[in-house]
Amino acid sequence: MAFRLKSKSDYQEAYKASIENPENFWEEIASHYTWQKPWTKVFESDFEKPDVKWFLNAKLNITENCLDRHLKERGDKIALIWEPNNPKDAVKKYTYKQLHAEVCKFANVLKARGIKKGDRVCLYMPMIPELSFAVLACARIGAIHSVVFAGFSASSLADRINDASANTVITSDAMNRGAKKMDVKGIIDEALTKCTTVEHVIVVNHLNEKTNMQSGRDVWYHEAVAKVNENCPAESMDSEDMLFILYTSGSTGKPKGVVHTCGGYMVYAGYSFTNVFQCDENDIYWCTADIGWITGHTYIIYGPLLAGATTMMFEGIPTWPDAGRFWDVVDKHQVNIFYTAPTAIRSLMAKGLEFVEPYKLSSLKVLGTVGEPINVEAWEWYNEYIGKKNCPIVDTWWQTETGGIMITALAGISDLKASYAGQPMPGVQLALLDADGKEIEGDDVEGYLCIKHAWPSMIRTTYGDHERCKNVYFSNYNGYYFTGDGARREKDNMYRIIGRVDDVINVSGHRFGTAEIENAINEHDEVVESAVVGYPHDIKGQGIYAFVICNKEHSNDVETRKEILATVSEYIGKIAKPDKIQFVSGLPKTRSGKIMRRILRKVAEGDVSNLGDTTTLLDPSIVDELKEGVV
Ligand code: WTA
Repeated sequence: MAFRLKSKSDYQEAYKASIENPENFWEEIASHYTWQKPWTKVFESDFEKPDVKWFLNAKLNITENCLDRHLKERGDKIALIWEPNNPKDAVKKYTYKQLHAEVCKFANVLKARGIKKGDRVCLYMPMIPELSFAVLACARIGAIHSVVFAGFSASSLADRINDASANTVITSDAMNRGAKKMDVKGIIDEALTKCTTVEHVIVVNHLNEKTNMQSGRDVWYHEAVAKVNENCPAESMDSEDMLFILYTSGSTGKPKGVVHTCGGYMVYAGYSFTNVFQCDENDIYWCTADIGWITGHTYIIYGPLLAGATTMMFEGIPTWPDAGRFWDVVDKHQVNIFYTAPTAIRSLMAKGLEFVEPYKLSSLKVLGTVGEPINVEAWEWYNEYIGKKNCPIVDTWWQTETGGIMITALAGISDLKASYAGQPMPGVQLALLDADGKEIEGDDVEGYLCIKHAWPSMIRTTYGDHERCKNVYFSNYNGYYFTGDGARREKDNMYRIIGRVDDVINVSGHRFGTAEIENAINEHDEVVESAVVGYPHDIKGQGIYAFVICNKEHSNDVETRKEILATVSEYIGKIAKPDKIQFVSGLPKTRSGKIMRRILRKVAEGDVSNLGDTTTLLDPSIVDELKEGVV
């Protein structure tokens, strides 16, 4: 079985082989990598408990595969390109040799502070090269990284640090965001007033901002790194040792720490990257995600480096200095493979073609999208104006929990259909289930998207709470991993993702649980109760609509609205601010006290002509009030 698929028949053969004999299939794929000790068994899987293991008893270090393995053959090839926020500032480039040295030095800085295998290290940083070094440095010494997107508030950050009992935080003084300069270290200091486990804070000096360094706890990276050398042997990791934790929102409670392990994640990240993007040796590859999300983990850092590719990271935003920035960067670096989110495409599309026309974009060969369904209009714009009708678009469906791309086209190989993610990757056994948990067979059907066989990069647990992992993903339908998405299947195993079927809203490709936002809103003194739903939004995909009941103290809608937005920013981050707030005197509840969200969704969508059966409501008159007050 070839590692790299090159034709439709290669795909079909691999898919068939992976279903008929997963052991043999994955054994051959995994043999592509360097293992310190081979596995005794390819996998063990029990979806009841759940208890899934891959490449049992094998030893490896993912950074040996990302870095050391390439030194002989492509040591002087560029591994990482860094494009700064300001186009006038200097680009940074690191060859595989240089990246290897930077990672080893960073690892030695950690080791010098006593940070060791199994420790949890929280990274809260802008998109600078040191973030990639730090991620890989943790992996090098076997520390478990937990990257938190630098748009989350101090309160969210503290929750994540505490949940993981991290003993170390890596951060920077400040960050750029377009024309703005933002504080970073101050947010760390604020968060750490609520954390007791953190002993070390390593601060990268990115913008020469003054910051208060707490003695004994805080150390400047540039000072620490001057004291170490660039030799750092890779820690020997068991295949099932934790590689990282990444927090993500679900439909209930606080975000949960999705756990990925070393061996399986490595195999799937590398295999999927190579095949989905069909990345060739001399290609320049750019994924615009932030490393704070799973897309950045798997497809900026691990996947491309496992493949020996040149990967680019971008510090800035798509709209600064103007809405042509992405295309300017594509031309500047002669990017061949470009991977972004539908929300970015829609927002740039809305700015007009004058921001695209000045650029050639002739280096592009492959385009990709991820994070949310892409509407046909955005797909066509991307195809016509960016790809010049000459680049396959891979619409990749996957999740933090799946570790890598699960449903997709393979660039240049598979048939494409706008708004269809495409076919399952080899090794991915999908099922559509009905409400009773029965598998729906055949074509042209819709159901709950589930996965019925283990794959190497699947979630192993939710950190510190295995029961939660079981309840959220494995208890809805016995014997299946439940994705939380609905999907449609057509002939030839073509899948179209319909969207979330649980209480998760996808705002600009970012996941939020409605309960999480409600909890934040409820922190406002005047708020008695709230209910949050998603509604269709032209740019963001989904917007956040909040119905809020206030107490007697409430008199001024405008002020309270502002304060609620500030409260949500404080508890979660600006990215979770509701787009619309409607003040109401009550919520549509059934006699048993359950909120009928179906009605709220219809109201938020502005589709109030047919609200369906409302007779089971405790107080049906509330519906008229909701309709009249639509924002
Ligand atoms: C949604 C992002 C449609 C989906 C990698 C999923 C998509 C959630 C697509 C996971 C796509 C992701 N088409 N929907 N191509 N990709 N989604 O964990 O609802 O941030 O469950 O992972 O995003 O979001 P997450």
